[in-house]
Amino acid sequence: MEQEKFTYRIAYYTGTGGTKIVAECMADTLKEQGHLTELEVITTGVHIKELTFDRLIILFPVHAFNAPDSVYRWIDNLELVDKIQTTAISVSGGGEVFPNKACRISTIRKLERRGYEVTYEKMIVMPSNWVVAIPDPISLMLLDVLPSKVKEIIRDVSFGVRLRSKPNLFNRCFSRMGEIEKPAARLLGRYIKVDSTCNGCGKCSRSCPADNITMESNRPHFENTCHLCLRCLYNCPQKALKLRIGNFIVLKEGYHLEELRKQLPIIDKVDIEELTKGIMLSGVRKYLLEL
Ligand SMILES: Cc1cc2nc3c(=O)[nH]c(=O)nc-3n(C[C@H](O)[C@H](O)[C@H](O)COP(=O)(O)O)c2cc1C
Ligand code: SF4
Ligand code: SF4
Repeated sequence: MEQEKFTYRIAYYTGTGGTKIVAECMADTLKEQGHLTELEVITTGVHIKELTFDRLIILFPVHAFNAPDSVYRWIDNLELVDKIQTTAISVSGGGEVFPNKACRISTIRKLERRGYEVTYEKMIVMPSNWVVAIPDPISLMLLDVLPSKVKEIIRDVSFGVRLRSKPNLFNRCFSRMGEIEKPAARLLGRYIKVDSTCNGCGKCSRSCPADNITMESNRPHFENTCHLCLRCLYNCPQKALKLRIGNFIVLKEGYHLEELRKQLPIIDKVDIEELTKGIMLSGVRKYLLEL
């Protein structure tokens, strides 16, 4: 039986590029199956494309057990619709374990208020961009397994499989508490420190998804809209930017997704159990072993 073809809108927010890779992989997979797909980047939350599609897939990186603020704003700006089939994908460094388990709840609730019927939700794991770096062989594995993880999601969504999670109260409370990260992000982003190596190139200002950086006398000036996505901190060619408080969340070795991708495909066998020992990587281990 021939599968029905749809126009999919894939809307995604990304800080350091991980969610963009997932969104593009989804678009390629849908196109291979003959569907029409349009990608939309969520930045400040304002809609930049006309809202004409049959199905919506929304993707966001997990920030403090939730979605970034602009994802909520993007949803709040949607027109009311009548039951558009929707898929919500969170992308995290930690996986579907406590305290991430309730990270899609607020997003889904908001979508449902606008008339979007969320029938499917899932977590994709990508190399983490904050606090603890994942060992390179494991990061490579995460990139390597992405196409098969995405194929599974697209197959389920195409065949109308329903997948909704029911996080317990404990996870939900934690997720609620995580919302405090949003005002904290705005505050930390207001006071990002620029050291003397800054050459005034303006790259940080041009690429900030939150429009948080303006150039004044060849120096970046930070406003009050930061999402703490870390893009400017990792991508500054001079490494001139630092958080005044909480700089431990920025990986000392930097974040190099594109360089890692060039090392694919994996040739050597990876001992997943050995390299993901311990509680911090338990969600990554679970994700890779459930293949
Ligand atoms: C401010 C901030 C908060 C984060 N919070 C979480 C979290 O609560 N759980 C988690 O597993 N990963 C967390 N991460 C890691 C990201 O979700 C992960 O690296 C994701 O792949 C980043 O996607 P991006 O490259 O599209 O921005 C956080 C990252 C940042 C910058
Ligand atoms: S990207 Fe770095 S060097 Fe360029 S203006 Fe921004 S802080 Fe300065
Ligand atoms: S100021 Fe930097 S960390 Fe904040 S949203 Fe812009 S790019 Fe991201």
